[in-house]
Amino acid sequence: MALAHCHSGALRGVEAVAVRVEVDIGPGLPGLQMVGLADAAVQESRERVRAALRNSGLRMPLTRVVVSLAPADLRKEGPAFDLPIALGLLVASDQLPAERMEGIWSAAELGLDGRLRPIRGVLALALAARRLGARGLLVAAGNAAEAALVAGLRVWGAHDLPGALEQLAHPERPPCLPPPTTAHPTPPELDLADVWGQGHGRRALEIAAAGGHHLLLVGPPGSGKTMLARRLAGLLPALPREEALELTQLHSVAGLLGEGSGLIRQRPFRSPHHSCSAAALVGGGSRPRPGELSLAHRGVLFLDELTEFRREVLDQLRQPLEAREVWISRARERCRFPCAITLVAATNPCPCGWWGDRERECRCPEGVRRRYWGRLSGPLLDRIDLQVVMQRAQPRDLISALEGRGQAGPRAESGAGGPETTAQVARRVKTARGRMVRRNPGGCSNGDLPAGALKAVLGLDKAGVNLWETILTQRRLTARSADRILRVSRTLADLKGARTVGTGEISEALGYRSFDLATREET
Ligand SMILES: Nc1ncnc2c1ncn2[C@@H]1O[C@H](COP(=O)(O)OP(=O)(O)O)[C@@H](O)[C@H]1O
Ligand SMILES: [Mg+2]
Repeated sequence: MALAHCHSGALRGVEAVAVRVEVDIGPGLPGLQMVGLADAAVQESRERVRAALRNSGLRMPLTRVVVSLAPADLRKEGPAFDLPIALGLLVASDQLPAERMEGIWSAAELGLDGRLRPIRGVLALALAARRLGARGLLVAAGNAAEAALVAGLRVWGAHDLPGALEQLAHPERPPCLPPPTTAHPTPPELDLADVWGQGHGRRALEIAAAGGHHLLLVGPPGSGKTMLARRLAGLLPALPREEALELTQLHSVAGLLGEGSGLIRQRPFRSPHHSCSAAALVGGGSRPRPGELSLAHRGVLFLDELTEFRREVLDQLRQPLEAREVWISRARERCRFPCAITLVAATNPCPCGWWGDRERECRCPEGVRRRYWGRLSGPLLDRIDLQVVMQRAQPRDLISALEGRGQAGPRAESGAGGPETTAQVARRVKTARGRMVRRNPGGCSNGDLPAGALKAVLGLDKAGVNLWETILTQRRLTARSADRILRVSRTLADLKGARTVGTGEISEALGYRSFDLATREET
């Protein structure tokens, strides 16, 4: 046999598409030629394959070899084609029976010594292999646990080229699958019980978690903004398996999944530094990879010191926040990375930090303060449902916390003594989410409701309608602000367990936008 082919896949955004690796051994001087839009790493594959075959006691053909990666108009990148190229060569040179490779996908980088190295994006590849009816997938042992997350697909893991051939010769033997390690070790638990006072901020955190609403915390230094934001992920309900797979796929494509990793079971909490680039935040690069926005998919993206982020970086957030996905266009392709996140942002109210503080005076000139806020382009504020102004904790909060007497705030009357714990609040969040799942189309949260669907599930009562009409005539609300207020009202009713939305919910929801309204009127 002089002509052979093997199956593999190439990443396109968060998904993979089939690639056919064809190998032809023909007459001519020894040499290996690669055709089919291969990048530098794929070109280098020639040298790795040659050395790996030789060092594994296998034969490299002594005539001309042409390797073609089809479809030819699809860009291929990275070293994942090393293994299918090597296997194709072995079939074409009669060192491996062709039928052993029938319907088998493979992907791994080869070391010069013949070792199989893990690659990024294996989960996406495994999903594509199953979708396209592959008989099985052969990968490096370090990738096997990840590939095996795809139910109904046979996965073989091997440490080196001879091991891979052994697996192919005995496909019925139990595959070599090392037990998965936890993808992301559990971070040290941050509990809400550590936060004293801040009833207003805690309430907003609970609403954000329940309805999937974006949240902005504004307050002087040391008021506990960062502390509170870091406790949001702990309030979110458990990650369903389907969503966990999607999240793991994104981290795998980004090359962030460690060797031997299995499923990411926890909702992510990502906190990029304010100096980060637009590409790092929303995704990009010449070989598109997901950014922080997509790495936080189904979890929390925390932008601390929001006004320190460059404005053109923040502007890139607007569209994906709404669409819940990022599209990255390159010359030949468009990649999609999902990003259904809850955004939490924190910032000082002005450059000196003390504007609005009860004890210290702000020294920023009016113009400076305006420019500071100007950096948070209006359209970004518009998309943040909950805007909360925080004060530093008061001595009485600290005293009552120390004495375990409970705290000022909406739940103080629960009488348990001391601040509520994350577990207590998470229970209410779970109940409210359950109501949304049963009622909303597609079981989505109120924050995720498609624009047209809100009206049908809102259930505004008579007095609520009257109040809403008054507000609309008196306030200069943008259509987007109005929509956000109603969504938050719906979440407040869900937290309360009420079928209808009344004046209480509308007024409270309106209160969470005062900041945005105030700055708009000022400027
Ligand atoms: N409400 C609070 N309860 C308990 N500790 C607090 C509170 N507010 C602030 N702190 C303490 O102050 C420190 C600074 O808080 P931090 O969240 O970083 O403030 P900010 O982000 O608003 O500047 C925290 O690490 C914590 O020790
Ligand atoms: Mg902070």
